[in-house]
Amino acid sequence: MSNVIEIKNLSKSYRIHKKDPGLKGSLKSLINRQYEMVEAVKGIDLTISHGQLIGFIGPNGAGKTTTIKMLSGLLYPTTGQANVLGFTPWQRKKDYLKQISLVMGQKAQLWWDLPLYDSLLLQRDIYEMTKPDFNQSLLELTELLELKDFLKIQVRKLSLGQRMRGELAAALIYYPKVLFLDEPTIGLDVVVQKKIREFIKHYQQQHQATIILTSHNLDDVRQLADRLVIIDHGQIAFNGTTTELINRHVDHKRIVLTFTQPINKSDLEPFGQVTKFNPHRASIQVPRADTTRRAAALLEKLPIEDITIEEPSLENVVRELFTKQDYA
Ligand SMILES: Nc1ncnc2c1ncn2[C@@H]1O[C@H](COP(=O)(O)OP(=O)(O)O)[C@@H](O)[C@H]1O
Ligand SMILES: [Mg+2]
Repeated sequence: MSNVIEIKNLSKSYRIHKKDPGLKGSLKSLINRQYEMVEAVKGIDLTISHGQLIGFIGPNGAGKTTTIKMLSGLLYPTTGQANVLGFTPWQRKKDYLKQISLVMGQKAQLWWDLPLYDSLLLQRDIYEMTKPDFNQSLLELTELLELKDFLKIQVRKLSLGQRMRGELAAALIYYPKVLFLDEPTIGLDVVVQKKIREFIKHYQQQHQATIILTSHNLDDVRQLADRLVIIDHGQIAFNGTTTELINRHVDHKRIVLTFTQPINKSDLEPFGQVTKFNPHRASIQVPRADTTRRAAALLEKLPIEDITIEEPSLENVVRELFTKQDYA
C-alpha cells in the first residue's frame, strides 16, 4: 500500500503576546512588547497509507487542530516536512486543494445566509465540477445525509445536526481523496452522531478515501478507525490499533463471576484483586498472562454459575494513559 501522508519532524510554535496582569501590565506591555512561544506540535513523525482512517485523539490543547491545519495548508509549520498526495500542503497548490477537504465541527464553513443548495453550487464552480458529476454527487449525498428536507433552507435556520450534515455535503461534493475531520460530532446528539459516523465509514469505503479524524468521542474512534494515533503535549504518545494499545498499556484483565450459592469475599481473595463483591456476584482483577489459569482454578474451586473475561474499556485505557506523567 502506498503512503498518502508522510510527516517528518513536524513542529509548530505560536508566538503569543505576554502581558503581566492588571493595568500596569497592559501599559508596560504597550511600551515593551514581550513574546512567548507556545510549542503546540513538537516534532511529530507519521505515515498514513492509502484508504486508511486514522483516529487522532488526545486531550484538549494536545496539538490535534494545529496538526490538521498544517496538513490542510492553513498553517505554515515552524520546522519539518509533510507530503500529502505528493504535495507540500502549505504551498496551497490548486491541484492539492482540489483533492483534499477539511471539516471543523466547531467552525461553520457554509455561507450562513444562503440555502445549503446554493453553497453546494458554489462548491461546484470553485472545484470546477462538470454538471453530470455534480448532479451524481448531489444525488448520492442527499440520499446518504438525508438533506432533501432542508436543501433549500437558509443555513442559519438549520439545527446543528442539519448544519453538520450540510458541512459534510459541501466538503465531500467534489470527492476529495484525503479528508481531515476535526471533531465532526461535537455537540451533536447521539442519533446524529451515529448517522455521521456511518456516513464517514461509507464514504471511506466507497471512495477509498484516506481520512484523519480527530475526536473527543471515543465511540467515533472505536467504530471507525483502522488505527489510533494519540497525541499529548504536541508529541505522539501512541500509534497502533486499539488492541495493541490495550495489550501494551494494560497488564490485567477482569473476571466477572456469578455464583450458584453465596460465597465469602475471602474465598475469592486467593485468585486476584477483588474489585466488586456481593455474595452472588463479584469481579476480580488478574494479571493478563495468568487469566486462563486463574479462570480454570476458579471454576474448579468455587460454585460458579457464569464466568466472563473482560478487557478494560478503551475509555479507561486512554484515561489512564493521559493521567500518567511518565510518557509525555
Ligand atoms: N492561534 C494560536 N495562537 C496561540 N496559541 C495557540 C493557537 N492555536 C492553538 N494554540 C495553542 O497550541 C496548543 C495546541 O492547540 P490545538 O492544536 O488547538 O490543540 P487541540 O486541537 O488538540 O485541542 C494549545 O496550547 C493552544 O493553546
Ligand atoms: Mg482542536
